[in-house]
Amino acid sequence: MAVLKTENLTKVFRRSWRRGKFTALDNLSIEVHEGEIFGFLGPNGAGKTTTIKILLRLLSPTAGNAFVLGADLQADPTRFHVGYMPENPYFYRFLTGEEFLKFYARLNRVPSKDRQRRIDHLLEMVGMTHARHVPLKEYSKGMTQRIGLAQALMHDPKLVLLDEPMSGLDPIGRKEIRDLIYSMKDQGRTIFFCSHILSDVQDICSRVAILHRGKLLKLGSLDDLLGSEKSKVRVQLRVPEQGKPADYGLSGDFHDGVLRTVFSNTEETNQRLFDLRGKGVQILSVVPERRSLEDLFVETIRATDPKFALET
Ligand SMILES: Nc1ncnc2c1ncn2[C@@H]1O[C@H](COP(=O)(O)OP(=O)(O)OP(=O)(O)O)[C@@H](O)[C@H]1O
Ligand SMILES: [Mg+2]
Repeated sequence: MAVLKTENLTKVFRRSWRRGKFTALDNLSIEVHEGEIFGFLGPNGAGKTTTIKILLRLLSPTAGNAFVLGADLQADPTRFHVGYMPENPYFYRFLTGEEFLKFYARLNRVPSKDRQRRIDHLLEMVGMTHARHVPLKEYSKGMTQRIGLAQALMHDPKLVLLDEPMSGLDPIGRKEIRDLIYSMKDQGRTIFFCSHILSDVQDICSRVAILHRGKLLKLGSLDDLLGSEKSKVRVQLRVPEQGKPADYGLSGDFHDGVLRTVFSNTEETNQRLFDLRGKGVQILSVVPERRSLEDLFVETIRATDPKFALET
């Protein structure tokens, strides 16, 4: 089932008289399936935040339509089933973490009898119980992102929209957010998130879309887009003493009993390794020569827009 769907979604901003109109989104059609982690990618200014704002009805589209949990943008608000973490969260600096969550619990109409239990549970989930009485102005960036995620989950939403949840975090903070996104998926939620940190996206997303200047350039599963099933596999094997690679039907770079060779795809690798194990060959390493998402991203943008200066 499509939890989120856009159909030719278009947004034209009217800027100043001199600068005229600007098309921030141009006929965007995507579908996000139930229970998946979907990465919404694109360089700065691609139209990602604009899309999220339309899905949340903070902006109205110029043309096209979108369906969130089956309801279109004109239908009754579905926002009580959608969690959202903004790109630049502005939280009330003098509230403590717990007061902040209480505020959002009321805003999201969590019944008063359930509020405290829900808040305790979320603080625990994002690892912020220790900082519940600390004012937000004293929170580090990582703590702010974590309390922001707790806020987004306050009303137990089915769909969670996260705008750059890992931005500005150190590697440990990023890993924590990745783990939290995974646990949201385990709880049966669908996660749609924007990020510039492509290695994180490659780690956790099943499908991605790449957007540039408002236009959809790529959409699909990472396996399809990166061709991982078909990619070559680099292996290192230890051949039994006195043996030669040719005895096992192998060739490649052979030194000190260790052979480095390449198999042409995942299937061949599985078959060959199974046979070789039976013949006493030791497997030292197996590394797929998978194209990175970053390579795909840069190639995709450069192919349509060679002069575009990519921010790294
Ligand atoms: N209210 C507005 N009025 C005019 N132009 C706008 C408005 N909001 C956004 N834009 C323009 O629309 C384009 C898309 O902006 P958007 O914020 O959606 O990009 P983004 O993909 O989220 O980029 P980033 O990665 O930098 O967050 C940008 O060129 C931006 O300047
Ligand atoms: Mg943005």
